Amino acid sequence: MTVAPAAAPAYDRADWASAFRNVGVELDGVELTAARGAIPPELEGTLYRNGPGRLERGGQWVHHPFDGDGMITALRFAGGKAELRNRFVRTEGWQAEEVADKFLYRGVFGTQKPGGAVANAFDLRLKNIANTHVVRLGDQLLALWEAAEPHALDPDTLETRGLSLLDGVLKPGEAFSAHPRFDPGHHGEPRMVTFGVKAGPRSTIRLMEFAVEDDPAAGVKAGQLLSERRDSFGGFAFLHDFAITPNWAVFLQNAVAFNPTGFVLGQKGAAQCLSSKPGEQGQFWLIPRSGEGKPLQIPAPEGFVFHHLNAFEDGEELVVDSIYYDDFPSIGPDVDFRQVDFETIPAGQLVRCRIHLETGAVSKELLEERTCEFAMVNPERQGLEARYSWMAVAEREHGNDPLQAIKKLDLSTGEGQVWSAAPRGFVSEPLMVPRPGASAEDDGWVLCLVWNGARCASDLVILDAASLAEVAVLELPLAVPHGLHGSWVPP
Ligand code: CO
Repeated sequence: MTVAPAAAPAYDRADWASAFRNVGVELDGVELTAARGAIPPELEGTLYRNGPGRLERGGQWVHHPFDGDGMITALRFAGGKAELRNRFVRTEGWQAEEVADKFLYRGVFGTQKPGGAVANAFDLRLKNIANTHVVRLGDQLLALWEAAEPHALDPDTLETRGLSLLDGVLKPGEAFSAHPRFDPGHHGEPRMVTFGVKAGPRSTIRLMEFAVEDDPAAGVKAGQLLSERRDSFGGFAFLHDFAITPNWAVFLQNAVAFNPTGFVLGQKGAAQCLSSKPGEQGQFWLIPRSGEGKPLQIPAPEGFVFHHLNAFEDGEELVVDSIYYDDFPSIGPDVDFRQVDFETIPAGQLVRCRIHLETGAVSKELLEERTCEFAMVNPERQGLEARYSWMAVAEREHGNDPLQAIKKLDLSTGEGQVWSAAPRGFVSEPLMVPRPGASAEDDGWVLCLVWNGARCASDLVILDAASLAEVAVLELPLAVPHGLHGSWVPP
């Protein structure tokens, strides 16, 4: 093995930071043409993206971009054409702050209301900012934020219908994860599997499975709850994501402590009160998806995980691929997020854990050394062993940098291809969209919103999923700040 010399970072910080801005327009069905290449006519459906679109009010910036209000971007593809629309989610907080032109709520990631600790102490309200993910369920689009119920939107116009309790499934204010997993049909019909966490000294996970298609013969409507269960575990749960297999829901409980004193006293955001517990071990919490069966708790390798790639069953073993950090990456109370020093914060790396369900033995293997995040497999392989993964990576092979490239990784050989937006482009989460009727696992496209530092606006890049060759680039008349998650919805 040869080790590449440590190259200098290939980006200009000003280009990266230029994506942190307020979105000032809401576009309504703007037709787009390809600046390069051509939109494949078979690519039919809608790409929905969510992320913070409002980062400043009355001259005050959020402390962390995750405190920015959710804005949905939608790109509808049909007949080789594309149409663009974007809308802020009309949350209660967004509407009130639009009128007041200042922050009226504290942010979970440390944004404070004007007036210092005195003005913030004992205000323990959370602002449901609906900024983390967006998925289609039944006849509505759901803008997700993990600590409270979803906002329902019109899938075509993106108009906010309001908070949704999903036909009485949720109680007002109940936590509903921003990381649903779409089971492609392990038990016959496709499902949306998701969870909510009630965290405390002992934490309860509510696992929920929803129908995603109407099934008139069974009297089932899309969006209907098909099954649920509740399981409790010792310790404060910090669970952002999970993974599924046909029989298991896989959670990784990081070894973190929550000390809310700073939050209560108005000095810190709630998420800034999380810290890693050195010397303590994280735990895999494995919950059987069927109503029967007891959950398992198995010690996990050291490290911190926000996101999983996928999981699958292999005989007596459960295999889960996750993006591991050495430690909990946080931004201190006195740091401007635009000035963050990438060299001093932990980098994400793709790691495979094999969990022996009988013995509880866990082995750990590094799958990808390069800094990465936002990884996915072909959606048809969700919960099953997959050959390929697509992910956002840093341009350099070593060192922690912003995400500037897309990598296709062959999980069986470790070989890969890279498409890069460097030096002036910065990628977001790539989505792999299978070609209709495809039989090969990597037959399809990869769609990615890229921040173009030269234009100070966003490009939608379409790559061939097999070769990562550029198929088309659409230059959007819109500047979408660095975002979070999104999904692809076929017509
Ligand atoms: Co996430």
